[in-house]
Amino acid sequence: MPAERFHLAWFLQGSSIQAWKEPWTGNISEEWMTADLFLDLARNIERAGFDYILLEDSIYIGQNWENSREIFLKNGMSVPRQEPSVVAALMAGATRHLGIVPTLSTFAYHPYLVARIVGTLDQVSSGRGGWNMVTGSSDLSAQNFGMDRLPEHDSRYDMAEEFITIAKKLWGSWDPGAIVADRKSGVLIDHTKVHTIDFEGEYYRSRGPLNSGPCPQGQPVIAQAGGSPRGKMFAAKHADTIVAHVKGVDAMKAYRQDVHANMRACGRDPDTCKLMFLINPILADTAEEAQEKAARRVVEAGQSLDVRLAQLGWITNIDFSGHDLDAPVGELTTNGHQQSLAQFLRKAGKRTLREAITDYTTRGASVDLVGTPDQVAGQMGEVMEEVGGDGFLFTQGNMSRRTIAEVTDGLVPALQQRGLVRSAYGKTQFRDNLLEF
Ligand SMILES: Cc1cc2nc3c(=O)[nH]c(=O)nc-3n(C[C@H](O)[C@H](O)[C@H](O)COP(=O)(O)O)c2cc1C
Repeated sequence: MPAERFHLAWFLQGSSIQAWKEPWTGNISEEWMTADLFLDLARNIERAGFDYILLEDSIYIGQNWENSREIFLKNGMSVPRQEPSVVAALMAGATRHLGIVPTLSTFAYHPYLVARIVGTLDQVSSGRGGWNMVTGSSDLSAQNFGMDRLPEHDSRYDMAEEFITIAKKLWGSWDPGAIVADRKSGVLIDHTKVHTIDFEGEYYRSRGPLNSGPCPQGQPVIAQAGGSPRGKMFAAKHADTIVAHVKGVDAMKAYRQDVHANMRACGRDPDTCKLMFLINPILADTAEEAQEKAARRVVEAGQSLDVRLAQLGWITNIDFSGHDLDAPVGELTTNGHQQSLAQFLRKAGKRTLREAITDYTTRGASVDLVGTPDQVAGQMGEVMEEVGGDGFLFTQGNMSRRTIAEVTDGLVPALQQRGLVRSAYGKTQFRDNLLEF
């Protein structure tokens, strides 16, 4: 029996400039503003048949280490970071098949504005627009928008529920066939087919209709990542694709079963949402070289504990600089990413903070993949078979054109030879490609 195919996507994390000290990054510290590296990435992964690129976002400069911005600015950690909808528009212009998914946080944009931005992206890309719907995780970002702090974790999801209801109603505010463009009668748009939505919620109000017009996909693709119980239920209800960072094959399998059970409870067919697991494979010409590379990464990780702790602090709103590195991690709570913290604490167990942070990374992967392209392709096939589907979301901390090529020109052809991923796009629109298998 031929192997079941799975999907590939790319999680564009951090800032292009942060790799400036690494080899093979050209003159990125001077060229980052034009986003050329990101556009080359988009073109390359499209050549390799990826379903989509997801552009991460956060809207603040970190200050979660010694209550200072120094470590974040000195190392270019997620800064400078450009407005994702602008970069997404450039990517739409540079590609023809790839799904483009900017992250837009619900606390920072009004639902009408998101519906308009993502709707426009869907139009200018001929049906390849998506939205990574996030609720935000840092009070520092809330302060950039005049709030003292973010709303409490679960009420952010209550707000998100209203938010997405408005966005969907706005995308639906143009009936099919509303644009007549009949020269004889002189009617461009049939006004009876364009409706207000008159939404009055607890948190938001919007009149509509959406003035940017209808979307080629009807509704752009929704991506979501909520890992808490509330987050998972929200994603099961609304998402076309879920991005997940859970550790190990058993946890991946359980996560997928959980999502499917939640989807059935919401009356949805589980096949209509594709679950993508974060990976960061280590690839080399030989197995030995790949193992050496992996060992080097562990050594490098041990040397930059403060950077790693600052990164964990960035997503959990915790300043670890005052914590004793040689004491057990203990109990911690967050109003930020609950799942990420829970995962860190679960793995830490009774270990010290130093031990726990050494083998933890916020850019970590669901499974470790190390080897030649062919070996890693085999490992990915085995993992997917065990988990049951749907695909992988690549990420690379310090990305270069060379490391991109390792994936698109090394690993992907090996996956294609095994019949595990597509060799050509089967459809023209983003959601249709996601639903193709
Ligand atoms: C792969 C992945 C990508 C994510 N991308 C973003 C992002 O770009 N911006 C953001 O604010 N949160 C991002 N998140 C965080 C999620 O939106 C969500 O807040 C987080 O998973 C915590 O959800 P929970 O509080 O329901 O556990 C991402 C999470 C994952 C797993």
